[in-house]
Formats: sequence, structure tokens, C-alpha cells
Amino acid sequence: MSDLYQDFTASAIGRQVSRLLGLPQPTRLERYADGAPLVDGVVAVGGRGRLAESLVGILDSLDIAAVQPAAAAPDDGTTYRGLVFDATGLTSSEQLVALRDFFTPLLRSLERCARVVVLGTPPEQVDGAERVAQRALEGFTRSLGKEIGRGGTVQLVYVADGAEGSVTSTLAFLLSPKSAYVSGQVVRIGAYGVTEPGRVTDWIRPLEGRVAVVTGASRGIGEQIARVLRRDGATVVGIDVPQAASELQAVMRELEGDHLVLDITAKDAPQRIAHHLTTTHGGVDVVVHNAGITRDRRLANMAASEQGDRWEQVIAVNLTAPERITRELLAQGVVNPGGSIVGVASIAGIAGNVGQTNYAASKAGVIGLVDSLAAELTDGITINAVAPGFIITQMTAAVPFATREVGQRLNALAQGGLPVDVAETIAWYANPASTAVNGNVVRVCGQMMLGA
Ligand SMILES: NC(=O)c1ccc[n+]([C@@H]2O[C@H](COP(=O)([O-])OP(=O)(O)OC[C@H]3O[C@@H](n4cnc5c(N)ncnc54)[C@H](O)[C@@H]3O)[C@@H](O)[C@H]2O)c1
Repeated sequence: MSDLYQDFTASAIGRQVSRLLGLPQPTRLERYADGAPLVDGVVAVGGRGRLAESLVGILDSLDIAAVQPAAAAPDDGTTYRGLVFDATGLTSSEQLVALRDFFTPLLRSLERCARVVVLGTPPEQVDGAERVAQRALEGFTRSLGKEIGRGGTVQLVYVADGAEGSVTSTLAFLLSPKSAYVSGQVVRIGAYGVTEPGRVTDWIRPLEGRVAVVTGASRGIGEQIARVLRRDGATVVGIDVPQAASELQAVMRELEGDHLVLDITAKDAPQRIAHHLTTTHGGVDVVVHNAGITRDRRLANMAASEQGDRWEQVIAVNLTAPERITRELLAQGVVNPGGSIVGVASIAGIAGNVGQTNYAASKAGVIGLVDSLAAELTDGITINAVAPGFIITQMTAAVPFATREVGQRLNALAQGGLPVDVAETIAWYANPASTAVNGNVVRVCGQMMLGA
């Protein structure tokens, strides 16, 4: 499934025509290649705060070359793949000028698909003028995300006091091509539960020896999640409905994984999944609730019906099943300490969408599940969600051409995302070093212009 418009603008004639007509010119995004260095280039580090001193060392531990350019004279011809600014030391609005002083001289030295990360203190953890200044960072990063261009991305990471040692997995993700389609996001580290990271010995295969279960794994985004978690070392247990059994088996055979054929809405599904994971794998480390369906219809036309109720089906698959399965796995202690539970929400659950009251309710409910469990989980178990925007899959290929074109271009990167972009975000949550990454909902939407 290719992006025909992007192929067109990448050609010589297409480039000229689109420039002449003032049409968007999406940059071909760089994606992570298995075994490649996390960052192919230099990252400039600046700012003053709780993290400034340790940043170069943290990046060094990830084999990322980091420099601290002299504030006044950065124009020595060096180009940068990424910029990281520690803003945790900013305690008043007047001090925000430090952002301008660091970024403005460097922005013209950025390479294609550059990564910008600003580190702050969660505003809710500080008071007065400091709270104001820290909250202001969000407007800065979201705007720079819309300005940066050429496939660049910008994120704000709020690091709680005491969680400074837990930023490594997040920087590894946000500075690398793994976060190609994530931009304008606000991430919180150490907001709930533990602030210490779990141990990772091999950053190339951080999930080695771990077990991951993925629902809806036979195709689309779920299949890609299974592939990326396998690449990172996990043994993957794929789940899908009986109609998709042969595709599921084929994918899982290729990934040397295991499979379970069942409908997640079945009454006994949570118990069967718990039983299988306990008896065959001795527990589970990563639980990804990916299976989801749409049954679109305006609410006025969504009356209860005998043959397949659109409202009930969507809520049952997308929300009630993940909720029941999660609670059963936790109640039986099937999720291992340091484990990770991941929900798949949607931009529709945040911004709303015509014809999707059922779907958007279910996906907003997934965010509710994250909110309700993040604070009560113990043993370093986390719960987070991804909210994909326009992802190019069989599902979106069926959307009429004009709607699809508009849907794909209305984001800061002017293109649709790929299933692998969602999968990489989930692999970051699942990383054992991400135990302080808890209670987040990160949109994988290229910073969509619509909605919240
Ligand atoms: N594609 C997008 O642009 C997009 C955007 C936002 C969110 N999402 C979400 O991402 C997830 C994956 O989407 P996709 O595009 O890959 O969809 P898809 O339809 O290609 O795949 C969904 C998978 O879930 C399985 N499934 C459905 N009902 C099930 C059930 N009751 N029990 C077990 N398995 C079941 C299907 O058989 C299928 O394999 C969904 O939750 C979807 O809502 C997708």
C-alpha cells in the first residue's frame, strides 16, 4: 500500500508541479532498520537543570554522539540529527527566553528528519512561577513541531523529580527513526508508580527472554506489532478470531511464536488467555490490546438491531474485552513484575469523528482504562496507550480516495503513518527500562492538525 501522492511529489516533475501549486511536499520519512545505530549523526545538548549534567553520558550509553555547542557560536558548519534541551531549570516566564537562545541559532543546522526533545518538570509537581514556566513548554514544542519541516519531529518529556535515571529508553525512542511518525507529543516519566528503570543489558534486543501477547495479530497493525516485538527479542503469542486462524498461524510460525485462536469478546476469553499464558509460558511480560473494529454510522441511524448491533459490537471488542482481559490477568498475577500493558486507542477517541460515536466512545474508554489503572498498578507494571492517527492499512485503503487524501495530508508531516510506527511506539512502552513510563497516551499521528 503506497502513498501515490508522495511518490508523485518525489519525482522531478511532481516536485515542480506541487511547488508551483503550493501543495504539500511530504518528506520521505526515515524509518529504523534492524541493527542500525539509533541515531546516524550528532545530537546537540543544551539547557540547565536536573538532567543537563547526565545527558551526554546517557546518550553515550546508547552510542549516540552528543556535543554541547558553544551558545554564541554554533555556526561552525556542523549539522545536527537531533537537539535535546534540558528546561527543568526554568523557574519563571522570563527564563523561557533560554529556549529561543538555544534553538534559534541551531535550527538552520538541522538535517532531514531531525529529532527535537525538550525535557521539563511536570507542572503539577511544582508551584507558582515555576509551574507557569513549565506549562509554557507545551505551547513551544507543539508549535515548533508544526514549524520544523523536512520530516522533523518535536516532543516534550516531563520528567518527575527522582525519575532522572529513567529517561534512557524514552530518549532512545524519541531521538531515533523509531519515532518517525510521532510529533508534538507530551510524555510523562515517573508520574505514577516507580521512578527507577528496569535493567536492560542489550539495547538491540531489550525483550530477550520476555513473553508478549498481541490481540488481532494476524494482519495490519497487530501483525507489525508482533514483528517488532519479535525483532526486539520477545516470544510472541498472537491472538485472533477463528476466521483469521490460518493467517495468524502463518505469521506466528514465521516469528517462531505461539498462537491462540479465540474471539476476545467470548465470555471465557479472559480465563482462557490467562490459563494459556500461565501453563505454556509461565506468565506474560507485555500485553497489547490491538484487536479493534469499526462499525460506522451516524448515531441517528444506530438503533439497536437483532442482526449485529453496531454499538454493542464495537464497545465489546474495543473496550469491554481489553478491560476484562486486563483485570483477569492482573487478578490472577499472570503479568510478571515490570510488565507492560498497552492499549490501542485512536485519534477519534480524542478529537471525535462523524459516524463514529460508538468507536470514539470505545477508544476514549481505552484512555480511561489507562487513567484508572496507572496509579494502582504495583510491581513496576505499567499501562499506557497509543492513539494512532491515519495509518496506511487495508482498513484505510478502503476509504474513498478524496477523503483518504485529505486525511493523510492534514498533519504536520503531510502523510499517513505506517503500521510499524505504531509498533515501534508500543515497543518503547514494552522496553524493560520503561518502568517509569506509565499512564501515557501518545498519539502516533504525525501531529494531526485536527482536534485536540
Ligand atoms: N488503521 C488505522 O488508521 C487506525 C487508526 C486508529 C486506530 N486504529 C486501531 O488499531 C488497531 C488495529 O487496526 P488495523 O487497522 O490493523 O485493523 P485490522 O482490521 O486490519 O486488524 C484488526 C485485527 O483484529 C482482529 N479482531 C477483530 N475482532 C476481534 C475479536 N473479537 N477477537 C480477536 N481478534 C479480533 C481482526 O481479525 C484483525 O486481525 C485497532 O484497534 C484499530 O481501532 C487503527
